[in-house]
Amino acid sequence: MRNLLAIRYLDAAEITAILDSARQYRAAVRERKSTVVDSPLGVGLLFFEDSTRTRVSFEQAAAHLGHRTVNFSGSSSSMRKGETLRDTIQTLRYEGLDAVVVRHPAAGSCNLAAHEFGGPVINAGDGAHEHPTQALGDALTILDRKGTIEGLRVAIIGDVLHSRVARSNAWLLSKLGAEVWLCGPRTLMPTNASRLPGKVTNEMPEAVDGADVVMCLRLQRERMASGLVGSVGEYTRHYQVNRRTLRRCSPDAIVMHPGPMNRGVEIDDATADGPASVIADQVRNSVYVRMAALSWCFAEGGAA
Ligand code: CP
Repeated sequence: MRNLLAIRYLDAAEITAILDSARQYRAAVRERKSTVVDSPLGVGLLFFEDSTRTRVSFEQAAAHLGHRTVNFSGSSSSMRKGETLRDTIQTLRYEGLDAVVVRHPAAGSCNLAAHEFGGPVINAGDGAHEHPTQALGDALTILDRKGTIEGLRVAIIGDVLHSRVARSNAWLLSKLGAEVWLCGPRTLMPTNASRLPGKVTNEMPEAVDGADVVMCLRLQRERMASGLVGSVGEYTRHYQVNRRTLRRCSPDAIVMHPGPMNRGVEIDDATADGPASVIADQVRNSVYVRMAALSWCFAEGGAA
């Protein structure tokens, strides 16, 4: 058994193995072959933050594999009465869950959960740290369209500072040989951005020039309230992905967004719904990579 806490901890061979497994699950599900495992297990879905895509796709993935899921949200748990995350995770362990999928606003919370829980822990997004299964689904989507990740130029645009999606994708795509560009306003770039795997710029044209893949990040509206962005109009003028952006990219560039989207802010409607968009495929593929992630975590022989 093993944890899936961060792409940073995986090597290229492990990433490729999970993606190969996801492809096999996709083929089996589409051909209506059984993907149910011999020994179904109990998987806790612990979401301390809102989610549509991640929570539902983990539930779908577990159902395809025949696992039982137990849903748990912070707002209806005894954490509202002051129970700590550590005690909560231990309680779930004593109650006999076999694995937990955790989303939490604090970076590092999934590492704490892995330390306290007796079985595999999968990070479903922890603060501004990582969102490994999102990056795996994104990689599968890129591979479907481009056939390879090696040598691609990928521009990740927007609120890099607060984005776990940007971090997991930067690690994954770099490990598989892409040239990654991280781009956003100065106030929304981490001070240590140069320590992330990728080139850093505040100039959108520099990031997207000849890009094969443009990945938009959600502008977290709460950041505007804290003064990190002057106005939506100013942000949109410099960093929105739209038809003008695509003119600078490779002619067959694809556009990605992890969702949820702020339409008209980081991406315009014509691009989100246009021929270059692979956003629907990102969502479809997320179910298969989460099946692969659950199986990888439950596999015999992995180091915890
Ligand atoms: N991409 C993503 O994590 O979406 P949700 O917040 O809806 O799960």
